Amino acid sequence: MTPEQFLELARVLPEPLLLVSSDGQVLATNQPVADMLRLRRQQLRGRTLFELVTESTNDVVKYLQACSSSRAMVIGSLTLRKNDGQTLICRSQGAVIQPWSPESSALILLRLESRTLASSNFVLLNEKIDELAKEVQRRKQAEEALLKVNQELEIRVEERTIALQETLNELQLTQTQLIQAEKMSSLGQMVAGIAHEINNPVSFIHGNLHHAHKYTQDLLKLVQFYQQFFPNTPPEIQEYLEEIDLDFLIQDIIKLFQSMKVGTERIQEIVKSLRNFSRLDEAEIKQVNIHEGIDSTLMILKHRLQASHKYPEIKVIKKYSQLPNVTCYPGQLNQVFMNIIVNAIDALEASVVNSQWSEVNPQTTNNPQIKIKTEVIDEKWITVSITDNGLGVNEEVHSKLFDPFFTTKAVGKGTGLGLFISYQIIVETHKGQLSCFSVPGKGAEFVIRIPVS
Ligand SMILES: Nc1ncnc2c1ncn2[C@@H]1O[C@H](COP(=O)(O)OP(=O)(O)O)[C@@H](O)[C@H]1O
Ligand SMILES: [Mg+2]
Repeated sequence: MTPEQFLELARVLPEPLLLVSSDGQVLATNQPVADMLRLRRQQLRGRTLFELVTESTNDVVKYLQACSSSRAMVIGSLTLRKNDGQTLICRSQGAVIQPWSPESSALILLRLESRTLASSNFVLLNEKIDELAKEVQRRKQAEEALLKVNQELEIRVEERTIALQETLNELQLTQTQLIQAEKMSSLGQMVAGIAHEINNPVSFIHGNLHHAHKYTQDLLKLVQFYQQFFPNTPPEIQEYLEEIDLDFLIQDIIKLFQSMKVGTERIQEIVKSLRNFSRLDEAEIKQVNIHEGIDSTLMILKHRLQASHKYPEIKVIKKYSQLPNVTCYPGQLNQVFMNIIVNAIDALEASVVNSQWSEVNPQTTNNPQIKIKTEVIDEKWITVSITDNGLGVNEEVHSKLFDPFFTTKAVGKGTGLGLFISYQIIVETHKGQLSCFSVPGKGAEFVIRIPVS
């Protein structure tokens, strides 16, 4: 394009256009350029670009070179020196329209755009972009906040559910404990009531037995006296004497009274054990002889220790030490002895079913037995250990032994509360310790450690 052709074209275009050579000569401009510079067009003739802008010659040359060696539009920035002495920052778009040749340098068309105009568009665009970015940011934050709230809510719901489940479990446990405690207390009342009712008649039977025995002896003596001093008895009496076999009667009546005495004594002992065991009058803390509690418990469980058609006898070996009286809740402590001894009996019976005792021989030590040992540890502590040689406890069972409702027994037979309640009575109420030692298949030992006071 020649400068003339360019001018022809540029005249009709409203934007400022310059035709420059790559060495900076201004070849042609249109009116908008002159307007921008506040010059007349004639005044631009023969000028160089370096004279019209404030940028260094070096920078301008570099820009023009970039324009002439690129096929694409090259964007730059030029600061125009206006005729009134002010400057005007322009954005320029440069494009080569005639490449360099050995005959002539490259021709470059520059399109100028006042920065104020451009920048206002820019500012607008920037503001829009800014707003958009902020909106995106806001949405992102809202989303994140929502996610966080959601997660927190989920966590809270989960925590609540766990707490509710725990409360439910606790309530169920408390309910069962209450039922159990109520059952034990009414059982205790019943036992104490029956014991009391039996005690009175047995006492007067036992008390009168002595007199009845004596009176019978007196009467028999009287009969003997009669025989001695009136040997010639009428035949009716003689006949009657033979009929009742007086000699046998005299011998037998002594034995009779003796066995009746043993019987009433045994009833009295049982009654004493029942009362001792239920200890209804002793719901409060008391100083008691621990051995009495153990013996009462054993007495009540006697029927399960004796041999039956199903199970051999369970031997109880007591190794009692000299124990001081212990300050405790005697009724509760008896319940612990009962729970542990019943478990030992259950384990021994199960071992019989498991034919652990296929050859029970009372002569050897290899027979079902429960060993009860009491010991003084020091002036503050005593122990009671109850050992059986039954099934024993494996590791898995051992870890759950004192858990509420844990049982390995058949439904209806085990409640899984015995050891749990025992643990509470010993550890929580009496500030003692309850532990279990066992070799599976060999038996189990439960050790109760309680403070003397
Ligand atoms: N002496 C013992 N020998 C073997 N296992 C025992 C013994 N004592 C307790 N266990 C085990 O501990 C479990 C829990 O005992 P416990 O709390 O008294 O509940 P339950 O007797 O109702 O099952 C029993 O089911 C049994 O498996
Ligand atoms: Mg039990």
